[in-house]
Amino acid sequence: MSIFSQALAGLARLSSFQHRFVFVKKLNANRLVRPLCAAIALGASLVSAGAQTAPPASLQQRLQAIFDMSAEDMAATSAFTKRAYEAQLAHIYRIQNKQIRDIVLEFVLNPKATAFEQAATQSWLASPGSGWKSHHAYPGGLSVHNLEWVEVALGWSDTWEKVYGVKLDRDLIVAGLILHDWGKLWFLFDDGSGKIREPDWYPKAWGTKANWKWMGGHGAVLYAELIARGIPTDLLFSAASAHFDPYWALEKDGEGMNPALREAAEIAKKPAPVVKPEERMAEWWLVTFTDEAWSFSTMVAARFAFELLEETAKDLGLKPDSREANKLAWFVLSRVGDFKIYEVYQKAGFHREAAQQFVRSVLDDPAPYEVPKR
Ligand SMILES: [Fe+2]
Ligand SMILES: [Fe+2]
Repeated sequence: MSIFSQALAGLARLSSFQHRFVFVKKLNANRLVRPLCAAIALGASLVSAGAQTAPPASLQQRLQAIFDMSAEDMAATSAFTKRAYEAQLAHIYRIQNKQIRDIVLEFVLNPKATAFEQAATQSWLASPGSGWKSHHAYPGGLSVHNLEWVEVALGWSDTWEKVYGVKLDRDLIVAGLILHDWGKLWFLFDDGSGKIREPDWYPKAWGTKANWKWMGGHGAVLYAELIARGIPTDLLFSAASAHFDPYWALEKDGEGMNPALREAAEIAKKPAPVVKPEERMAEWWLVTFTDEAWSFSTMVAARFAFELLEETAKDLGLKPDSREANKLAWFVLSRVGDFKIYEVYQKAGFHREAAQQFVRSVLDDPAPYEVPKR
């Protein structure tokens, strides 16, 4: 069934959809009173993009509302990302060590990259978990990414207790994981292109060595900030273990965690903290083991979901990689995530059409995936 016939079949549901589509009314009331102009303009761009038949006006109106939403709006109205954000906060509030709890709360709720003299430009809630087309690359993705790893790592910690009778310091695990990608707070949703981009002030020289070049500057932003503020090194090393295995990537041929921390300390204009091999903490490895598991999330789930969403956008007559096509991806991913899209595909016997229909159902009626903006 084509997206257009699906949309027509969904027309009967549209009036109730519009009642439930409260966020659009709240956020874009002035835009919704000009749907005719928007529909005409969008219809023209859809036709020029090569669609044989423009989607019905009601669908066009809904798409226009999506294109008008900011990344902040999408994260704030998605049940999926809002839940992840709040569950993550609950984990922070459960940190027993007050000093560590206060540090993490300050970094999350009042973020400032003082080492780079940068104020926050978006909320923690809206921030993505990665760069464009990588894992968790959607509004609210950072909270989903963090929550996933905190839950897995705590489960792993329980396992160590059951199997080995050892009790790990859960505060260090939770705090390290929640902070590990703090620099992604500055990964910006560019509303003009619909892409995610690194800020211009990100340290370009960071990670010039081959083994950690791929990581970009987001580690530097966090480590420099933790060092500049004199945060306890146990927490710094725990967070840094997400990007450097404390055994395999401590220091070799000028690369690894210690060289990275030296570089960050130069940025912070402070002495460099050094990890001593004989004083490594077991907790750090749970941070390493979780965050280093990215082959499914990035190479399979995210890659599949982005390809599929491009196909959906094309079916709707949107130009591939256009602002509109990309914002459509932000929207759907913020509602259901890439793992869910892949699950539908896998469980349908690896049929893309099933995943397409699922994505279209989200576009037809996103209300079950949404919460009112507070
Ligand atoms: Fe990272
Ligand atoms: Fe990460």
